[in-house]
Order: sequence, then structure tokens, then C-alpha cells
Amino acid sequence: MTQRLTTSAGCPIADDNNSISAGRRGPLTFDNFQLFEKLAHFNRERIPERVVHARGTGAYGSFTLSRSLSEYTRADFLQHLGDETEVFVRFSTVGGGQDSSDYARDPRGFAVKFYTREGNFDVVGNNTPVFFLNDPQKFPDFVHSQKKNPRTNLPDAARMYEFWANHPQSLHQMTILMSDRGIPLSYRHMNGYSSHTLGFWNEQGERYWVKFHFKTDQGIRTVTNDEAQSLPAHGAQQDLVEAIDFGEFPSWTVKVQILSEEQARSFPVNPFDLTKVWPHKLAPLIEIGKLTLNRNVDNYFAETEQATFAPSNLVPGISASPDKMLQARLLAYQDAHRYRVGVNHNQLAVNAPRCPVNHYQSDGSSTGIQNGEVNYYPNDQRDLPRPDPSVQAPPLPLLGDAWVGTFSQDDEDYFSQAGELFRLMNPEQQGQLFDNIGGGLAQATPSAQERMLDFLNRADPNYAQGVLQAMRQHVPAANTA
Ligand code: HEM
Repeated sequence: MTQRLTTSAGCPIADDNNSISAGRRGPLTFDNFQLFEKLAHFNRERIPERVVHARGTGAYGSFTLSRSLSEYTRADFLQHLGDETEVFVRFSTVGGGQDSSDYARDPRGFAVKFYTREGNFDVVGNNTPVFFLNDPQKFPDFVHSQKKNPRTNLPDAARMYEFWANHPQSLHQMTILMSDRGIPLSYRHMNGYSSHTLGFWNEQGERYWVKFHFKTDQGIRTVTNDEAQSLPAHGAQQDLVEAIDFGEFPSWTVKVQILSEEQARSFPVNPFDLTKVWPHKLAPLIEIGKLTLNRNVDNYFAETEQATFAPSNLVPGISASPDKMLQARLLAYQDAHRYRVGVNHNQLAVNAPRCPVNHYQSDGSSTGIQNGEVNYYPNDQRDLPRPDPSVQAPPLPLLGDAWVGTFSQDDEDYFSQAGELFRLMNPEQQGQLFDNIGGGLAQATPSAQERMLDFLNRADPNYAQGVLQAMRQHVPAANTA
């Protein structure tokens, strides 16, 4: 039987094409409540887009464990070989709005929500192992400098390079972004990284530090600036949706790097500095399983747009680390979700844990689920939820006094790893790097150019030389800064 069209309150609708009017050519009447509902709902179809990572694509799949990590962590989904955990993954670009292109030279977000039996664990990472910053104070300034010029509303390379020239800590990530790896051909053809160091803790209360790597099984494939120009804005979205619809399920081999607390203390780089990688020779990659995407969303807005990933979504056995950027992200994302989706965002199907959720929180906008009449704790009801002290993470040793003075970055080495990466590139890759930086840096102010060339020189004199030559081939565009 054909289903009847109804209002959102379920009332059957007789006519959805014509409004009620006073006579054929007359004005509308006030009993057009069906029309009013339709227009009012239409006005509210948009929620704020993500302030960064606005443009993205999501899909469901699973993570299958191929190596037990019980010696390092009590995380429920990392114990038994063959254990399968449902996941939702959202890939994104960072700087552009929802209507920008999938082919911007920009890092790609790689956010994974593991629906474990002990709650959701989110790895909200990127396709790069490092980031531009290691102190969250600079994040809004950084994002402002990379987005459009607020006056012209146009992309503005001068602002980007002015920021980078003031922040040597950005050099490593800038080198990756400007390299031949800067524009992935599709979301299937790139790696993902937690980038941050997270904590593992086991049944004995011993703590380890860990980084997650998701290595694409499709192989890395990238495009040049020129190739990117000829690709459709929605190309990466289409590639993922069609691959899954056609049964070509993309997968990633999941690996971890692990350090004991003792190893971390004598590690040659600060293991909590997000601008640095852990050399694989010192912390080898350990394969732990496979991530596969095999189901598209039924509704883009309901699922992908309303998905709320949070670095604070941790499970027993996995903790945060002292990484300053991560610490700030523990606050920033939940705050963003309350604003963007609402206080009860975790009740939406895409975000809802697949395990029982028991708490004494009440009410709030769009509450769909409420617990019983006791919404306070402690209470005298034996069968109601109570805390479980066994899931308490071990205490985090502090390495020094809390310091309210200025945190100086002057004694940090932000050049060696950028130089090492540069020397790993073949001449053709180095040529692309020179050209990509040269084109943008040519538009920056002379003082920004000078400082940037100094940073490049400290990474490797050939790096600076190559960029300088490339700059000379670019006629500076009008500098709007
Ligand atoms: C202090 C530093 C940072 C702050 C304050 C910050 C803040 C934010 C905010 C507010 C959003 C939008 C969230 C939403 O509306 O749902 C976001 C999205 C995102 N961020 Fe960050 N971010 C920071 C650093 C990073 C870093 C270092 C990474 C990667 C290693 C990262 C990866 C992502 C990803 C992947 C998303 C999109 C998640 C999704 O698909 O919904 N962010 N960030």
C-alpha cells in the first residue's frame, strides 16, 4: 500500500502542491499550518559548519585485531585476536568551507570512531604524522592565517607564509604539505595518523606511550597542482562513495609505535611534541590489525555532518598524554559539538555508543533518551549505575612544576627532521617542493621571505637554495596583505 504523506506530527496531508488561498487569485490564509511547518523547517536545515574540516566524507566499516595488545593496554577491543569493532570514519580537508574543493593543497583529516564495548574511542587524526604547532595558544591565529583574507575573501599566500615565517615549529609540516604528497588523489590513497602521542595502560597499571598509524592498502597516490585544477571539486567524495557502492572496500593496515615511560624519558626528541616524528629505528612500527570501510551512510547530513569526533573520547586502557595540543583538544571538540550539534549529540545514531550508556545527566535540547526518575548520584538504589574504580587510569607523573612563565621554544630543534625529510626526496620530488613553496613565498613580504629562507637554510642549504631559485621564476602577484 502506498504510504501516506504526513506532517512531522504524523497528520496525513491532503495536498502538498497548493497552498490554501482566499479564492483562486487571493492571498493565503492562516490555516496553512502545513505550509508554515514546511517553510519553518526549511529555514532551519543548516547547522553551523565545522570551523575547520568543514568539507568531508564519511563511511562505516570495521577494525579487526591481528595482534593482542594486552601486555600494553587493558582496552577491551585490543585484547583478543580476530576481535572486530565497528567504526565510522570521516575524511576531510581542513581550511576550505563546505563548498570548497576536495583537491586543495591542505592536510586531510582522518577521524576514526571505534564503537568499543566500553565506549567510543576516537582517533581524530590527519594524513600527516606531525602538525604545524605544538602549543594550542597559536591554533586560532594559525587557522586565521591559512583561511581566506577577511577583507577580500580570497585565498592569500602572503598571510600563510607570514605565519609560517614567524613559527619555525611549522617547518616540518609545511615541508610535507608543500611536497609531492600535499594533494592526495583520493581519501583511499592516503595514510592516517593519530599524530599525537596517546597513553596505553594495562591491568598492572603500567603506562606506555603510543602513536597510531593507518597505512593505506591502496597505495599512496597524489596529484600535482596542475592535475588538481582539472579534477572535479567533489572528486574525492565521489571516489569513496562509488568504491564502497561497487564493493571495492578500501582498507588500511593499522600499526602502532610504543614507548615505555622509561624509554620516553631518554628519547632523543620530546615524545610529546606534535611537530616531531618518532624515528622508526628507535620505535618500530608494530602491526595490530586492519581497518576496512564497507558501508556508505544512508543520509549525509544525519550521519556525516552530525558526526562528532572528540579526542576526549577515550576508553579504559587508553589515556591522553602531556602533549599540550592534545590537552587543549580534550576541551575544544566537545565544546564545538555542543554549539554545532547540541548538548545531546551523543544520542544521535552515528555518535551513540554501541554499549549501554548510564549516567545521571538530564534534559537539554532535543533529548530523545532519558533515564528513570533518579537523576542524581549518589542514591540509595542498589541496581542503579555507580562508578567503577577499576577503570581509573594510573596517576600521571609530573616532570616539573606547573609553570606560569612564558614557555620558550627557542631551545627546540625544529630543523633537523624537516632537513631529513628533504634529503629523503628524490630530485623530482625536491623540484616539486621548491616550486610549490617558491610560488607562494614569492607573494610574501620581504621580511617573511628572509626569515623563511633562513629556516630552510637551517634545515638544509640546498632546500633554501632551491626555493630561492624557484621564487625568482615567479613574478610576485599583487600582495593584498
Ligand atoms: C589546539 C589544537 C586544535 C584545536 C583547538 C582544534 C579544533 C577543532 C575544531 C573546533 C574542530 C571542529 C569540530 C566539530 O565541529 O565537530 C576540529 C575538527 C577536526 N580537527 Fe582539530 N583542532 C586542533 C588540532 C588538530 C590536530 C593536531 C589534528 C590532527 C592531528 C586535528 C584534526 C581534526 C580533524 C580530523 C577534525 C574533523 C573531525 C571530523 O571529521 O568531524 N585538529 N578541530
